[in-house]
Amino acid sequence: MTSASLLTARPAAALKGSVRAPGDKSISHRSMILGAMASGVTEIEGLLEGDDILATARAAEAFGATVERLGEGRWRVTGQGGLQTPSGVIDCGNAGTGVRLLMGAAAGYSITTTFDGDASLRKRPMKRVTGPLASMGARFAWNADEDRLPVTVTGGTLTAIDFVQSVASAQVKSAILLAGLNAMGVTTVTEPEKSRDHTERMLRAFGATVDVEEDGKGWVVRLTGGQALTGTTVSVPGDPSSAAFPLAAGLIVPGSEVTVEGVMLNPLRTGLFDTWIEMGADLTITNRRVSGGEDVGDITARHSALKGVVVPEARAASMIDEYPILAATAAFAEGRTVMRGVGEMRVKESDRITLMVNGLRACGVAVEEEAEGFIVTGGPVAGGATVATAHDHRIAMSHLVLGLAAQAPVSVLDPEMIATSFPGFVETMRGLGGDVTEAG
Ligand code: S3P
Repeated sequence: MTSASLLTARPAAALKGSVRAPGDKSISHRSMILGAMASGVTEIEGLLEGDDILATARAAEAFGATVERLGEGRWRVTGQGGLQTPSGVIDCGNAGTGVRLLMGAAAGYSITTTFDGDASLRKRPMKRVTGPLASMGARFAWNADEDRLPVTVTGGTLTAIDFVQSVASAQVKSAILLAGLNAMGVTTVTEPEKSRDHTERMLRAFGATVDVEEDGKGWVVRLTGGQALTGTTVSVPGDPSSAAFPLAAGLIVPGSEVTVEGVMLNPLRTGLFDTWIEMGADLTITNRRVSGGEDVGDITARHSALKGVVVPEARAASMIDEYPILAATAAFAEGRTVMRGVGEMRVKESDRITLMVNGLRACGVAVEEEAEGFIVTGGPVAGGATVATAHDHRIAMSHLVLGLAAQAPVSVLDPEMIATSFPGFVETMRGLGGDVTEAG
């Protein structure tokens, strides 16, 4: 990735070709964290080498694991069977997943850890995780605001809790489960809708028992404390949240045909693809296979005449990071695309509802903003704007993809954070024929 503070996407001729999706960010974080908590060697292949994950790798090392890079995407983590007191502050950079899961993991050991992050992470709410961890027995010392980093966590002997989530969050669920590994008793987390289940799957791969059942009120995940983890091998599938960007370009740039290979098809992550298909997208999945315990496939997107839809609110958990790119493609659809029940978007790396509303409007798109959602009405997309991203990778990539199909170029400010989740994004898009440059 480039260190330019401005990237510009110009209307492109048809995009053609086949690319590999970068490794899944959620699974990459978890492989580092569980590898550090486990005894013995965890061999990882396909790791996303984005800035968020590199911060988590440094954290794993600071907590006492040996972390080695063996080659591109190939890493070895040798855990000590628990986390040890780190020598310095754990700086999680831009990564909400990194800090929230690490706080849960650290809470279960008799260690004291200070967590911090960049300016964006310091603005994000932490109480959603520290609240339940405190009721398990962990102690938190805050700097100023009792919901914001930096915070110092003192872990120790925890007691299991039954936690009921009002909004399905995999980060909250995962933090509680990781703490629950070292708690006395049976920890349960109930979710109204199922959120991504990578922690549950990976805990099983590391030798733990985790049960999931529906109880009429929601999905209950149950884990008995006192279970030890043993190192294993992890094959990281391609990230559907990153694959979404080249596929979106394939859908909206006339004449395009873009294939992304090795995309994870876990149904708790594919809400965007379901939505695009309802909008009339020509998406085909080939070469379905199982890799690293997850369904994967190659997805081909061809330029399509899209129609606006109402996205079911119950689908939000399975595509929460994909609404920005959905909104960009909805700008080219006929009619209204209604996205509601997505208030969580406001507490991601930026307030993604406001940033998308402002960016799309600047590009001449009709958008209505609501407290917990937004509505995009498709039509000619003028482009010709320079868009603020608040250093949010997905806001930057969404507008660059939009710029490839707009009438005039679209520039994004502060695109460096693209490297947190999709290092090589610019090169990938150029390889497909997209005109993305550092020139203003
Ligand atoms: C993630 C869960 C989601 C998602 C984030 C990654 C995870 O956050 O937005 O990018 O890996 O568990 P929430 O759990 O807060 O919805």
